[in-house]
Amino acid sequence: MVNSKHYIPDGYQVELTLLSNGKKVDSRIYPELQQMFDDARAAGLSLFVREGYRTEEEQRQIMDDKLAGYEAQGYSEENAKKLAEEYVAVPGTSEHQLGLSVDINADTNKSSSDQVYEWLDENAYKYGFIKRYSSDKTDITGINNEPWHYRYVGKEAAEIMKRENLCLEEYLEKYKG
Ligand code: DAL
Ligand code: ZN
Repeated sequence: MVNSKHYIPDGYQVELTLLSNGKKVDSRIYPELQQMFDDARAAGLSLFVREGYRTEEEQRQIMDDKLAGYEAQGYSEENAKKLAEEYVAVPGTSEHQLGLSVDINADTNKSSSDQVYEWLDENAYKYGFIKRYSSDKTDITGINNEPWHYRYVGKEAAEIMKRENLCLEEYLEKYKG
């Protein structure tokens, strides 16, 4: 687990697999990610991986852009930081840097975002993925609702988390504490 209190260890190594659209993911999640996409498409949905693996430098750039956006709107540096960190993980703590998370979007010419998010919410656990930042867990995760961000945890953990409505922090505390 990584979050604002748990940084990625120094020297963390990822073996990456390149997707057909140029995005990359940890090779271990690729087969189930592909199966999930095949099944979603068979169910009539049009979706794609908007974001997979990111380097720390890429995460820093996203954070800097977000901060600059808030500061341009007139927020103080302190408030801009507070707001930005509800949407963007502090560099060194993003699951995208692990390659274990993907942002999944609808191709909105063919499917609505709601259709895709609903299908994922109902089905992703069968492939070992969980919606990482739910609207009802923001007080624990510290991150706003992100219906597109799916984290691979494996089927066993994903089933329990889905059944018991636990976010990753709660699951680890209850079962691995
Ligand atoms: N948007 C998520 C929290 C990230 O930056 O990893
Ligand atoms: Zn994400």
